[in-house]
Amino acid sequence: MKRVVTAMVILAAVLILGCAQQTPTEEKKIKLVEEGFLTVGSDIAYPPFEYTDEKTGEYTGFDIDLMTEIANRMGLKVKFVNTAWDGIIPGLLAHKYDVICSAMTITEERAKQVDFSDPYFEAKQVILTKADNTEIQDVDDLNGKIVAVQQGTTGDFAAQRLKDEKGIQLEIKRFEGTPEALMAVQKGDADAAIIDNFVAYIAAKENPDIYRVVESDEFAPEYYGIAVNKDNPALLEKINEVLKEIKEDGTYDKIYNKWFGE
Ligand code: ARG
Repeated sequence: MKRVVTAMVILAAVLILGCAQQTPTEEKKIKLVEEGFLTVGSDIAYPPFEYTDEKTGEYTGFDIDLMTEIANRMGLKVKFVNTAWDGIIPGLLAHKYDVICSAMTITEERAKQVDFSDPYFEAKQVILTKADNTEIQDVDDLNGKIVAVQQGTTGDFAAQRLKDEKGIQLEIKRFEGTPEALMAVQKGDADAAIIDNFVAYIAAKENPDIYRVVESDEFAPEYYGIAVNKDNPALLEKINEVLKEIKEDGTYDKIYNKWFGE
């Protein structure tokens, strides 16, 4: 009898606790996939935003510094999960990580699936071509050319738009990663790539004899955001709060100057 009573008390406690978890206040609590960590999904092959330092073997870049700072201010450790771009949103939806920070442009399509933080970086598409290519000076010159892109990026969408809306006859070669798209240009397998401007600037700055950047007014400004699951509004709110703080106290500028100083 005593045992039955004990069992019933435990059962009641479990039921009460279970219900408590569904009260509205619980909804406002930050959910984390791992206690004590801010787990960040990123396609870490995208210098200078996220890449592996060849010497130390550690992840580094603007986004890495930014997320490390944000996690610190939340009293959390940061953990990066290197993820292929084409699975990066599904991975967030499957709760493999808490956020995506991967130089991801805020787009309407993506915002149907995930919530975005306030913008943290302004970017634009550019054309990256071979240093010795004098022919390509604007988007019209891509007519009849092969254009390399990272599949599913805004560079990919921009190339498609040039075809569909501007009638520029170009062939799009889609690659899983940005390094492969850059390699295709270097090897001459593609005439140009359409990619985010700062990624192109760095590639051309480090390899001036290989690459040249071509800007075009055809491309509109884009804004990077940190993506959060829609069922985690408290996390989104906190990230925006910390982001604001970092921008106001000069920490954002410090990180920015470290990576884009000159
Ligand atoms: N900004 C572009 C986009 O959102 C490209 C981002 C690619 N990021 C990366 N880590 N490979 O589509």
